[in-house]
Formats: sequence, structure tokens, C-alpha cells
Amino acid sequence: MAVRQSSLENLERQSLRYLSNFYKGKKVLLTGDSGFKGSWLAICLKELGAEVFGYSLPPKSKKDNFVVTDLSSKIEHRDGDVRDFPGFLKYADNIQPDIAFHLAAQPLVLESYTDPRYTFETNVMGTVNFLEITRLVKSIKAAVNVTSDKCYHNNEWLWGYRENDPMGGKDPYSASKGASEIVTASYKASFFSDINNAAIASARAGNVIGGGDWAEFRIVPDFFRALETKKQLSLRYPEATRPWQHVLEPLGGYLLLGAKLLERGQSFSGGWNFGPRDVNNYSVQKLVEALISAAGKGSFIVPEDAERKHEASLLKLDISKANHLLGWSPVLDFKQTIQFVVDGYLGETSGEDVYGLRVKQIKEYMNIGSENKLVYLT
Ligand SMILES: NC(=O)c1ccc[n+]([C@@H]2O[C@H](COP(=O)([O-])OP(=O)(O)OC[C@H]3O[C@@H](n4cnc5c(N)ncnc54)[C@H](O)[C@@H]3O)[C@@H](O)[C@H]2O)c1
Repeated sequence: MAVRQSSLENLERQSLRYLSNFYKGKKVLLTGDSGFKGSWLAICLKELGAEVFGYSLPPKSKKDNFVVTDLSSKIEHRDGDVRDFPGFLKYADNIQPDIAFHLAAQPLVLESYTDPRYTFETNVMGTVNFLEITRLVKSIKAAVNVTSDKCYHNNEWLWGYRENDPMGGKDPYSASKGASEIVTASYKASFFSDINNAAIASARAGNVIGGGDWAEFRIVPDFFRALETKKQLSLRYPEATRPWQHVLEPLGGYLLLGAKLLERGQSFSGGWNFGPRDVNNYSVQKLVEALISAAGKGSFIVPEDAERKHEASLLKLDISKANHLLGWSPVLDFKQTIQFVVDGYLGETSGEDVYGLRVKQIKEYMNIGSENKLVYLT
């Protein structure tokens, strides 16, 4: 046990060096940079010294993280559609990136019921186009496709899903993410198995939360919208349990995975789970109660006739693989997660420079990681 622990600590120290040294000067293609997770990832990459080239649809609103952090003045960005293969390929070919992260997607379950065709086109054909580009643009030596915990066939198990469990998905969004995984596995087996090819992997995480997300139909943005308008928040699924994570947690995993893929190749390809610790699985109602307590304001109601379309009621990720092979671990406990979220949102309206606020949180996150000796990012 002592030997295993010490080898894990060595791995973590190694991981630490990867992130601080690895991305400096690397050219990174990033789809979905105008979105919530993509904009945070762009900031992390920029702060690590990478040259970031974003490709996505324009931001949806002036409140989006991409806009409030003035990201377009800090990275290269091109408005584009991942379904437009020639345009996407031309952009990537001009850049000649070293590494690529694919986060562009239609990410909402409810929206996928309204527009399943768009969801499948973007999430499945968008993935095909991303992998084709990885195949054709020879400079790309590592690629990470970001999917979701919802890619798994959900048996409503109490235990966590492992990377080799079957893919599935009942609602169109979940099915599109399961399909994106199957496409990635097919490309890996068919085109990327040779040592000289790019190494490709997929990354699965659960619900992430943090300042800068103003998407519709998500509980945390809904909470802060209700605060702004001084309305009561109505909970659609109060008992649904979700693995809540601050957005920085999986992003650290993606960065670490990208670095290992580029450096160590095929041995790191395949699927990876980046979920929270088990203790961060809380119901929607508990999450909202914690937000109210940390913000010192807000209220909610649970309507009796809440509409209930199919949505998985429990889904946990087993993170042993990322923990043992990448040295990755979640850093924040539930209370710290909530505090980061509240500071991230309330800071946006305090007049503070929002890019600076995000960087401050990234640094704070790293410090907590070091103090906890759970460091994988510093
Ligand atoms: N936010 C979460 O809780 C969560 C949980 C699990 C998985 N994910 C996954 O993480 C990724 C990012 O999610 P997010 O929460 O940042 O979503 P988001 O809606 O904030 O951002 C989506 C990004 O994709 C881009 N995009 C959408 N359709 C596009 C198209 N056709 N062509 C080009 N760009 C397009 C948007 O412009 C935006 O930049 C997605 O793959 C999502 O499925 C998110």
C-alpha cells in the first residue's frame, strides 16, 4: 500500500510539471470556445502560455463568459459551424495545431427534445468532422473529444459507471453523446491505432457549474437569473441527484489528458471519466439551498405539476482510471464548489475585471489543490 501511495504521489508531481510546462507555446485548436466550458478552457490554456485558436458559433448573449471576459481580444477566434466541414477543415489546416479539444455541441437535454435533428447533426456529425480534421491535418498529434456522463447506458445503478460500460442514451442529447463516443471508438480503431497517428481520447464529465454559464434550462443559471429579477426559483426536478462539479475540475482533467496523449501517444487514448467525489452527489434542492446560504439571498418553490420528461435520475462516474493512470483527482469539496460558483456569478456584477476574476479563481483552485495534496494543476 505504501509503495502504491508513493507511486501515486510521484505521478501527481509529474502531472504538475506537465501542466505548468507543457502547454507553453503549443498551438491548440478549441471548438466551443464561445461556450461556458470552452471559454473557461480557453482562459486556462491562455494562462498556461498556449496559442489558442477557437472555432464555434458566436456567443448567444452579452452575458456569456466569452463576452464578459473579452476573450475575443485575448485568443484567436473564428465564428464557424462544426457541420460546415470545408470551412472547419480550412481553418484548422491554416493553423496547423499541435493538439485539439472538441467542446462544440448542443448540450441541453430539453433542447434536444425540441430539435433532435440539430442535436444529432451537431453532436454526431460535428464529432465526425472533428475526427476527420484530426486525421487530415497531420500536425495534430493529440485530440480530446468532450462528451458527457450521459453517454452511458443508464441502468440507474447506485455505483459509478466505468469507462468500459456500454454506451446508450434515451433522450436525444444522451443518445447523441453515446453516438459521439461510438464514432470516436470507431475512428480510433480504424484510423488512429498506429503509433505514428494522432492519439485520440474522449472525456466524460457530469454537470458542471461555475460563473459565466447563462444557458437556459440549467439550474444554477436559473438560480442567478431569479436572483437578478428578484423572482422565486421554480424547481423542475427537486429530487434529481447530480454529480455537481466546478467547471475547473474536469478542465484540469482534459488538460492533463491532452498533455499525456501528445507526449505518450496511444497508451492514453480511449475513454476517461472526470467526475466528482461521491460526496458531491447532491439533489437539486440541496444544491439550491446551499447556493442561497452562500449568497445570503434567494428563494425557491417546488410546483406540484412540474413537467417530467425522461431524464436520468442518478448517474455517477467511477474515476479510478483517471485517478490511477493520470494522477487526476477532484480538488474542491461541495462547500468550496458552491463558494466558487457564488463568487464567480456575483463577481460579474461587482464591477471587477471578469477575466481577472476568472484567473484569480484558477489560481485559488490551484492553491487549494496544493494544500489538499491533491495537486494535478499548479
Ligand atoms: N455544462 C455541463 O454541465 C456539461 C455536462 C456534460 C457535458 N458537457 C459537454 O461539454 C461541452 C461544452 O458544454 P457547455 O456547457 O460549455 O455548452 P455551451 O452551450 O455553453 O457551449 C457550447 C459551445 O458549442 C458551440 N456550438 C454549438 N453548436 C455548434 C455548431 N453547430 N457549430 C459550432 N459550434 C457550435 C457554441 O457556439 C458554444 O461555443 C459539450 O460537449 C457538452 O455536451 C457539458
